[in-house]
Amino acid sequence: LLAGTARAQSAWPGGQPITLVIPFAPGGPTDAVGRMLAEAMSRDLGVNVVAQNVGGAGGTIGVNRVAQARPDGHTILLHNIGMSTAPTLYRRLPYNPLTAFEMLGLVTATPMVWLTRPDFPAANFGEMIRLIREGGERINLGNAGLGSASQLCGTLLQASLGTRFTTVSFAGSGPIYPELMANRLDIYCDQTTSAIPFIQAGQIKALAVTTPAPLPAVPGVPTAVQGGLPGFEVAIWHGLYAPAGTPKPVQDRLNAALRFALADPRVVERMTGLGSPPEPVSRQNGEVHRAHLAAEIERWRPILQAAGQFAD
Ligand code: MLT
Repeated sequence: LLAGTARAQSAWPGGQPITLVIPFAPGGPTDAVGRMLAEAMSRDLGVNVVAQNVGGAGGTIGVNRVAQARPDGHTILLHNIGMSTAPTLYRRLPYNPLTAFEMLGLVTATPMVWLTRPDFPAANFGEMIRLIREGGERINLGNAGLGSASQLCGTLLQASLGTRFTTVSFAGSGPIYPELMANRLDIYCDQTTSAIPFIQAGQIKALAVTTPAPLPAVPGVPTAVQGGLPGFEVAIWHGLYAPAGTPKPVQDRLNAALRFALADPRVVERMTGLGSPPEPVSRQNGEVHRAHLAAEIERWRPILQAAGQFAD
């Protein structure tokens, strides 16, 4: 450790950079949150925290990369609700989320928003639902792969309408926006963190948010419930992870850097503007994170088993 530092927290042992794996392509919501975290955590730790995108297979490739990494604190992971859905969706998932990782704390809870291409012939969410009921298989739904947040949102809509879309999978939200804007994909359900800039620029249409009440960050857009779909509410959570066996003092130092980042006024302002303020301090905590992940795995299992879409 560096001696003589005036900081309340000690510097990072050895001064080696840290890789923060983002298990999706650049330009999506996990990337947006991860790059903000990396920058602020770097300032607290006194070393570079370098975001690295490892997309594919709904995030499971990047997650497995970190599960296999040396547990010395130099490789960490930011992941979303997919950590809790993949164990049901993949029959042969190469890691067990509850035993392959140390939980470093919950980061943020993020609403979702139903989006369409600019020329999609629905002026509101009710019309979108009517078009889906009339012929869901003719509608192209983008998603970020089996085990992603967008896949969960699409699955829930298909289950509540009793229909199937034609699904086109990508390595993350980032590559989906150009397809939507070019009218090559019809609809997408994404987290507000990456959707809001496109909505504000008028490049895509936003028809409904998945929150209980309308969102100030997405003005003028009703909730899915108001739009005609009772009970349709989804919130995406994110957590920070280290490989199992990472020494406790290293976990504690990374948790302190996470809490520093989530208290940074610029991070708070930016994330709040994107509809996704940081989790309360009491949840920026490894034990709370572990209990939440365990409960979420149980919560989604019967719902996803009933929906019946699996991978080997
Ligand atoms: C991303 O960062 O691209 C997303 O979180 C994708 C998703 O989970 O839908």
